[in-house]
Amino acid sequence: MSARRTRIVDLIPAAAEGANVEITGWIRTSRFGKNISFVHVFDGSTPKTIQAILTPALAEAHKGDLGVGAAVRITGTWKASPGGEQAFEVAAHTVKIVGTCDASDYPLQKKRTSMEHLRTIAHLRPRTNTFQAVFRVRHAVSWHIHRFFHERGFLWIHTPIITTSDAEGAGELFEVVATGESGEPFFGRSAFLTVSGQLAVENFAQAFTDVYTFGPTFRAEHSHTTRHAAEFWMIEPEIAFADLDDVLALAEDFVKSVAEGVLTDCADDMAFFDRFIEKGLLDSLRAVLDAPFARVTWHEARALLAEAEAQGKTFEHAVSAPGFELQTEHERWLAEEHFGRPVFVTNYPASQKAFYMRLDDEETDGVATVAATDLLVPRIGELIGGSQREERLDVLDARLAAHGLPAETYWWYRDLRRYGSVPHGGFGLGLERLILWLTGMQNIRDVLPFPRTPGQAEF
Ligand code: 4AD
Ligand code: MG
Repeated sequence: MSARRTRIVDLIPAAAEGANVEITGWIRTSRFGKNISFVHVFDGSTPKTIQAILTPALAEAHKGDLGVGAAVRITGTWKASPGGEQAFEVAAHTVKIVGTCDASDYPLQKKRTSMEHLRTIAHLRPRTNTFQAVFRVRHAVSWHIHRFFHERGFLWIHTPIITTSDAEGAGELFEVVATGESGEPFFGRSAFLTVSGQLAVENFAQAFTDVYTFGPTFRAEHSHTTRHAAEFWMIEPEIAFADLDDVLALAEDFVKSVAEGVLTDCADDMAFFDRFIEKGLLDSLRAVLDAPFARVTWHEARALLAEAEAQGKTFEHAVSAPGFELQTEHERWLAEEHFGRPVFVTNYPASQKAFYMRLDDEETDGVATVAATDLLVPRIGELIGGSQREERLDVLDARLAAHGLPAETYWWYRDLRRYGSVPHGGFGLGLERLILWLTGMQNIRDVLPFPRTPGQAEF
């Protein structure tokens, strides 16, 4: 008689009545009764647990060690489950306690705990139902991102994590210094953790046409919001022979395709989020996937906001104030209340955006604008920031100067504008914000394995 260890997700549809099976996992619940004793085991492969029925002898022998959190290996017979929550269960033959779990102080007892509390035990929270679902979805999102680009012939470029230029020109950098460093810096100059792989990946777009980078990104922003982390993951496609419209079309296809993939592959987990985290999540996501995203220019968006303000809507940041910039409250009003779906805002004032964005040929209301876009989505605000890039060297140099950035540091970026420069563009999407949007989770700290935010880098 041979028994094999199988992931629970594979066992459920595949095992035949009467088959010998072996399961490994951790106990979610256990019950010991006079007539019947059972444990529910999970292994992370599915939201489903397996119920293992214990004979009185097995129950008696292991009772003390079969509490919540214990790791077990159980062999038994796969059989139909009379009236249980699941169609099948395992009639256990052998039970091995692989790792005991001290019930006197195990932090994950059955009672519901707050997200805040779970952050303090981030090493154990992956075992809870919510975090099981979050990290299965996080994997599926990542996988569908790669699938999307691979199917379209994009190359994944591993842009460096240690950089020497500030890609966003925003000065929110972490410096990289060797421990005990004194005198000559390790790299012979200042080096930083990347804030974006864009500048590097642009070089590859002008050699391979369609490329993307996808990796960890670091920003020393002192933003204590539910949408900002100091370490997050960003996806940045870059396409050559392309303008802003091409970038928008790619972004919309991309978001929809990844969302579809996750809805299909993670149906059980998505149903969990719909039920316990954000009621109506599935309906709202489906509605989004069925309709085109809205589009407005920045000037049109400002006019819509001004009109709302005139009709009595109050914003903390007044729309008529000089130097007005879109804040999260405006972004959410546009996406949630006005359009009720994701919306691309385009052609921002040049003064509000990074140096590399392409200057528009015409001004609007006397304001110089750039071929930029932000995708705003309900519940989140900004999900994507992107643009067509400035491909004209003289204009780029003027923009660098206007931003007070040293042209020497960007010499290789400038070179691209001298050797076969073509119109090109791309965008950056924050992985965690996409996951928040897809799952209804509220806080970026709860979709990162071990979040890093100002004042917080435990684990
Ligand atoms: O708008 P951002 O700053 O754009 C760029 O970095 C461009 N270089 C992208 C490009 O065109 N290739 O950042 C892009 C996205 C944001 O829209 C947001 O989703 C996410 O990255 N993001 C953050 N996510 C979590 N925590 C932070 N601190 C984030 N900062 C940006
Ligand atoms: Mg942005």
